[in-house]
Amino acid sequence: MRHEKIEKNLGLMIVLIVVAISFGGLVEIVPLFFQQQTTQPVEGLKPLTALQLEGRDIYIREGCNVCHTQMVRPLRAETERYGHYSVAGEFVYDHPFLWGSKRTGPDLARVGRRYSDDWHRAHLMNPRDVVPESNMPAFAWLFENTLDAEGTAAKMRALRALGVPYTDGDIAAARMDVAGKSEAEAVIAYLQQLGTLLKRER
Ligand code: HEC
Repeated sequence: MRHEKIEKNLGLMIVLIVVAISFGGLVEIVPLFFQQQTTQPVEGLKPLTALQLEGRDIYIREGCNVCHTQMVRPLRAETERYGHYSVAGEFVYDHPFLWGSKRTGPDLARVGRRYSDDWHRAHLMNPRDVVPESNMPAFAWLFENTLDAEGTAAKMRALRALGVPYTDGDIAAARMDVAGKSEAEAVIAYLQQLGTLLKRER
């Protein structure tokens, strides 16, 4: 009888569905906030340097993360191609994380140190120069634009408020680290550290 009452009352039904789904979600999500495996950084994890941090922001601005994921799934085909699968502890300082789900280009979670800086320069300037069949767009303007060092320290302070362990020294040195450098240099500095903490499984 009670069941019939719920099924015939759309408003009540909606409320109860929301309650049921929220409960299911909470049971899955809340424990993750308390598990060491998901909250502790992997050994050796350091916050991005000021230059790498600016590079990350340009990576987002240019939409690199729209074509490139940053998450190696624990599947044979992926670990053979990219290296060790991604673990949560690698991303605890990422706000927001850039895992993504669409791979127009390859996953970049472990691209750090796979190519030289020169290779990246050539590739960003015109991908076809190093990968003839590439359909990645060229990002030539990154070489002309100089970084704006004004906001770097404030970004680092904001990240520190979220738990990224920047020291006062890191923040004081931010402007010097960034001033006068090109956007391309920053993006390459960011790419070259990606996923380098866990060795390739080979
Ligand atoms: C429209 C989709 C698209 C966008 C946007 C894009 N890429 Fe790519 N990227 C690709 C494709 C496709 C490839 C594979 C061909 C190649 O190597 O050029 C690739 C390859 C790469 C590689 C080599 C990866 C490897 O393992 O060989 C790097 C590094 C890279 N992209 C960085 C970037 C960066 C940095 C940006 C933003 C400035 C960016 N990409 C934006 C599509 C894209």
